[in-house]
Amino acid sequence: MTRILVTGGAGYVGSHACKALAAAGYEPVVFDDLCEGHDWAVKWGPLEQGDLLDRDRIADAVRKHEPAGAIHFASFAYVGESVTDPAKYWHNNVSGAINLCDALVAAKTPAIVFSSSCTVYGLTDAEFISEAEPVAPINPYGNTKRAIEIMLADYEVGTGLRNTVLRYFNAAGCDADGDIGEVHDPETHLLPLAIAAAAEDRDALKIFGTDYPTPDGTCVRDYIHVTDLADAHVRAVSRMLDGGGSDLFNLGAGDGYSVREVIDSVGRIVGKPVPAIEDARRAGDPARLVADISHARAGLGWQPVHSSLDNILTTAWNWYQAQAAADLA
Ligand code: UFG
Repeated sequence: MTRILVTGGAGYVGSHACKALAAAGYEPVVFDDLCEGHDWAVKWGPLEQGDLLDRDRIADAVRKHEPAGAIHFASFAYVGESVTDPAKYWHNNVSGAINLCDALVAAKTPAIVFSSSCTVYGLTDAEFISEAEPVAPINPYGNTKRAIEIMLADYEVGTGLRNTVLRYFNAAGCDADGDIGEVHDPETHLLPLAIAAAAEDRDALKIFGTDYPTPDGTCVRDYIHVTDLADAHVRAVSRMLDGGGSDLFNLGAGDGYSVREVIDSVGRIVGKPVPAIEDARRAGDPARLVADISHARAGLGWQPVHSSLDNILTTAWNWYQAQAAADLA
């Protein structure tokens, strides 16, 4: 079986990608330090527990498994924390990526897929954001993602390591079979917080800003089902193993929903309204971030098929209920 190294494969998007890789006939080898990932989420291949900051450890793992390619998810991803503790983000995200790339180059692994983020576009006014939109990240997290994108381009020139950069919009939803799902600690994302508030497991949801220049005054985001994201990773890695060159793709559903629209839909799916209070804007939130996904459609032959807001929320709600039941057991 063709092995793919998956850093951060015990995390939310990474574990869903491992399931999709296995379904496509690959063996995912997870490299994860489990500081934010979960060992129970590693179900489709071996786990190499290790820290990317340990150069020898990642080099040994690559030598041992000889992967045909790598997908690099492992990263700290809390925007607010990146502002107060930039060193943590620059050290971990950028140094970890350098160590991984050096290990891949040394082992002659030819290709890497990198999880980037729409946050690299910063405060854009574009209605639908294409890959041609200028990049201007506005926080350290986004800066580290952009720095790694630039680094990958330089590595390709110098070493031949080909890369596919995937800029995600808002990853959401959970595996439809309930094998894996979203578990963050702390949880900061809108959908799981709204579900927990509707389930009366936490206080009222705060709506961060109601005076944005959007139809209802709240921020608009593009929610992409994690299973569709996972599928895009499999396509990206397969394309490169078939000899495809480096490329960059935005991954969203191509539809925008406001915070209020999400709250209303969560209330409908859960069957109870989301208790919510209006609060001040959160620093660094652009009013609207919605992807133009025509390049991913054409270049990856990819199409989101799980990403209706109702399906995203139904799978997230099913996962939430299963977790709640397991906690009570
Ligand atoms: N929001 C609230 N209340 C909350 C949480 C979120 O109103 O309690 C709002 C936010 O202000 C934002 C929207 O809901 O308008 C979505 O917020 P999330 O925190 O769920 O997601 P973000 O759009 O902030 O973040 C996502 C990824 C980041 C990435 C970013 C790019 O999680 O990793 O997109 O903008 F950097």
